[in-house]
Amino acid sequence: MSNLKILIVSPEVDPFAKTGGLADVAGSLPKALARHGMDVRIIMPKYKNIQNVDYLMDLPVEMDGHLETAIIKYSTLPVKEEEAHLNIPVYFIDNYKYFYRGGLYGHPDDGARFNFFVKAILSALPRMDFKPDIIHCNDWQSSLLPLFLKVKYEDEPFYRDTATIFTIHNLHYQGRFPKDILTTLNLNEKRFFNPEELEFWGQVNFMKGGIIYADLINTVSNKYSLEIQTPEFGEGLDGLLRKRSQDLYGIVNGIDYHKFNPETDENIYKNYSLDTIENKIENKYRLQEELGLPRKDVPVISLISRLVAQKGLDLVGQIMNDLLKEDVQFILLGTGEDYYQQMFSQIKVRYKDKAAIIIGFDPVLAQKIYAGSDIFLMPSKFEPCGLSQLISLRYGTIPVVHATGGLEDTIIDFPTDPEKGNGFSFKNFSVSDFWITLQRALDLFNNHPDQWRKIISNAMTADFSWDKSAKKYISLYEKALEKRKKDLLAKTG
Ligand code: GLC
Repeated sequence: MSNLKILIVSPEVDPFAKTGGLADVAGSLPKALARHGMDVRIIMPKYKNIQNVDYLMDLPVEMDGHLETAIIKYSTLPVKEEEAHLNIPVYFIDNYKYFYRGGLYGHPDDGARFNFFVKAILSALPRMDFKPDIIHCNDWQSSLLPLFLKVKYEDEPFYRDTATIFTIHNLHYQGRFPKDILTTLNLNEKRFFNPEELEFWGQVNFMKGGIIYADLINTVSNKYSLEIQTPEFGEGLDGLLRKRSQDLYGIVNGIDYHKFNPETDENIYKNYSLDTIENKIENKYRLQEELGLPRKDVPVISLISRLVAQKGLDLVGQIMNDLLKEDVQFILLGTGEDYYQQMFSQIKVRYKDKAAIIIGFDPVLAQKIYAGSDIFLMPSKFEPCGLSQLISLRYGTIPVVHATGGLEDTIIDFPTDPEKGNGFSFKNFSVSDFWITLQRALDLFNNHPDQWRKIISNAMTADFSWDKSAKKYISLYEKALEKRKKDLLAKTG
């Protein structure tokens, strides 16, 4: 395997800035690639909250007929002491006007902000001491990069051999802006404002740039890569994705097995492994105390999530009364849409002794909940990959999921396959199927401890570390390079 030079472009990277799973992936995949000998570096915007980074250089970037300054800063990705040799540089694009403010996205000028981000990267690279073989872009905030590379830099020798990968972490978020953003992008309206290019229902769709122009595309599970080619999951882009199906791959995410390890996790109350699983219950009791729930060995069911419709929260809301009639406890941690925040806050009022609802973002408490609960709910309507079910498995907390996307690829239904089953899953996205499936899990927990142990064992011995998937990314990178070479040859004859 060659030593590729890889630049990961991501709008969020843990631990610097995070709104969701993309940050975890962008913060952990690079380590796995570096362990395989790759020269991997990361580039992201320098948001206001990011401190203690060093100055590298600045350069002008053309925006709407005037020049803006991009200040390039750098740091390294924090790793555990024993992995200090990995040394993964992280570059930051800074500009006061675009990035010095609260929040990551959701601003009215996001189109201009991420246009600036991508342009700054492409102008900066030739001046830096790093010529990537692969530029690996993630989600709509970086999806214009493959387009700019092909249409604005086609004669630039520096980029001649560079191949691009575009990873779709969630097709639902596409980066759609009014037509006049084309001026800011310096893209010709005649050429680019049509359905074959960036036009999408009268708007400009950034995601299309990545899908059309990247050398190869992938999503974060195999199942999701197939689902998005259907109208049901395609978010209006299924036709285009079908057109590129030859170049569209699915690679399931891993999680950081060093960070998420019940044997060494410093955030949980008492460490445990499969061999010392009896210590898991101490985590339950201490969690109950911390959250003001009665201390007892009832099934503790948890949910940690962004509170948005995608996550199947309407199903959860509709079973709450039935569920909380049983001798169980329910713990929810998350923030998001007001509607769901209120829905769950009301449950807390009605069931003080059975439900703990924490509206907020708290990574330390999250670990305590993974360790202290028995069952984890994830009935997502769609799920490109999902990381929480993988963390749950690692902590011996059994996921109950809707069989879709990455959930279908990672969770094996125990009643269907008692040999390999590591959780419970249901096929029809309906309240009754969800409720029946959860009841099955509760019955097994309450009445068949030997079988429950078997599920825990299957869950904790499943391997969703990055190692396997990192190898798949490396062969995807190699494929992209071959394709780039072939396309160049075809062009030059
Ligand atoms: C998005 C998806 C989630 C995936 C994550 C990382 O947040 O919704 O399913 O796990 O990206 O790829």
